[in-house]
Amino acid sequence: EQSYAADVEAILRLKKERNAIILAHNYQTPEIFHGVADVKGDSLALARAAQGVDADIIVMAGVHFMAETVKLLNPDKTVLIPDPLAGCSLAEGITVENILALKRDNPGVPVVTYVNSSAAVKAVTDICCTSGNARKVVQSLGVPRVIMIPDEFLARNIEQETGVEMITWPAHCEVHERFTPQEIRQYRRIHPGVTVITHPECPPEVVEAADFSGSTAHMIDYIDAARPEKVLLVTECSMSDNLSVLYPQTEFVRPCNLCPHMKRITLANIRSALETGQTAVTIPANLQQKARQSVERMLAI
Ligand code: 13P
Ligand code: SF4
Repeated sequence: EQSYAADVEAILRLKKERNAIILAHNYQTPEIFHGVADVKGDSLALARAAQGVDADIIVMAGVHFMAETVKLLNPDKTVLIPDPLAGCSLAEGITVENILALKRDNPGVPVVTYVNSSAAVKAVTDICCTSGNARKVVQSLGVPRVIMIPDEFLARNIEQETGVEMITWPAHCEVHERFTPQEIRQYRRIHPGVTVITHPECPPEVVEAADFSGSTAHMIDYIDAARPEKVLLVTECSMSDNLSVLYPQTEFVRPCNLCPHMKRITLANIRSALETGQTAVTIPANLQQKARQSVERMLAI
């Protein structure tokens, strides 16, 4: 029989024995986020942390594209994803053929690809971005138009911020596409004075109805600086769970949507990954160099 405490104890011991570290995305459940993670953050922070990690094994407590990005940056290390079926509606929302067609229709227009994508897609991309650096990445190109895929809403939100015209693809995050401006107005009526923070994967009309929009790391920075009395995080449920522990003076209003992919990762399968070495992420040799280049270009900005 397994208990949280037994799993945490085993994971802490196995990390030492195997010289392993655990990277955890902000959407992981509190027992993972606060209990066993060595590095926590948004997609950008996790990609950066993955550069030059001093460990033999890296366990990604997050979704598959995140583990792939870590593997691209650490080809000689073992990168484990505790459940290889932890996908993402954005990563699954576009194929290499779709991008090649967009490139054919828009010759010479650079392709900016959200990290929420497969290594194969990254390999036919000029530069990657995360929600934390999308504006900077787009501005760094110094062009009037870009192809920004796969997230249509992120592209529209960045178009709004930068004035750079976006050629988009109709893929969405299944968690953030469900929020509506009506819902936000309702919560403002129920909780007068509440600070509303959205993720840029939300539809533009939802972002417009908010006080601030940013990546999950930018959300934390905002709360850390502003210390709002009441906050509504228009994002995945575990964000509020994790932050309410760190900011006990702030009241978290919780209309949240669960990401079923993030929730595939559990203490039990992290433990089992460390015990069995399953599942190690591999990237086909013909994709590695080009996909890595797109990620490294982003990290250089
Ligand atoms: P960030 O943590 O980079 O904001 O990304 C959110 C997300 O949906 C990752 O899957
Ligand atoms: Fe993908 Fe959305 Fe889940 Fe993040 S929250 S992994 S973008 S489906």
